[in-house]
Amino acid sequence: MAKPIIELQKVTRTYRLGSEVIHALNSVSLQINEGEYIAITGASGSGKSTLVNVIGGLDSPNSGTVVVDKHDLSNMHDDKLSVYRNKTIGFVFQSFNLQPNNTIVENVMLPLVLSGVKPEERKKRATEYLNTVGLGSRLDHRPSQLSSGQQQLTAIARALIGQPKILIADEPTGNLDSLRGQEILEILQKINDQGTTLIVVTHDPNTAHLADRILQMSDGRLTELKI
Ligand SMILES: Nc1ncnc2c1ncn2[C@@H]1O[C@H](COP(=O)(O)OP(=O)(O)OP(=O)(O)O)[C@@H](O)[C@H]1O
Ligand SMILES: [Mg+2]
Repeated sequence: MAKPIIELQKVTRTYRLGSEVIHALNSVSLQINEGEYIAITGASGSGKSTLVNVIGGLDSPNSGTVVVDKHDLSNMHDDKLSVYRNKTIGFVFQSFNLQPNNTIVENVMLPLVLSGVKPEERKKRATEYLNTVGLGSRLDHRPSQLSSGQQQLTAIARALIGQPKILIADEPTGNLDSLRGQEILEILQKINDQGTTLIVVTHDPNTAHLADRILQMSDGRLTELKI
């Protein structure tokens, strides 16, 4: 039986720029089940990042309800929201967002520092996750010493180290050539095969077709393309 893990009801997020009102999300309702692989497509500015940021607790709607893994985000306070982000969600961004002055093992450990795991255990687990993505021999390198594909693999290891139920990737292959992009998509697919709910934002129709369902954003509104 499909079990819903993400439920949005009439979610609206508007931005005001002077007298202009931008409806980044315009009454979006959506249900995602545990273990699904969802692609979100749509033109630039259509609201894709806003949607995944609201699901991931990085942004808050003006109205509507967002329930993720039984947490009602709509009226959650900031401290609880950061625990939610750390425990339930893994995020991968187009621009990797790694700390340039830290080694990659330090970057991957960071979420465990925030959740109070002991130093030896943090290093051990970060090393395991970097081994999983094939970077076990590069632990003490800084992001600038790695290729962009390797930096994205590091970001994936960091997103997974807290064993999140949901992995959100916002244009994860946007800064990579197609071969490196393919490698990232294969790893994401494997993570989904192991049971993690996966949401991938993408402009690329070929990438979107790998998903179970394709959701399309258009001017803040959501429609379903493939079921
Ligand atoms: N902080 C902000 N202030 C004002 N407007 C914003 C802000 N963030 C997003 N917007 C607007 O909200 C709309 C949706 O933006 P969003 O970033 O979600 O689009 P997107 O589909 O992810 O685009 P892209 O494909 O370029 O990443 C856009 O019109 C954008 O300009
Ligand atoms: Mg975006």
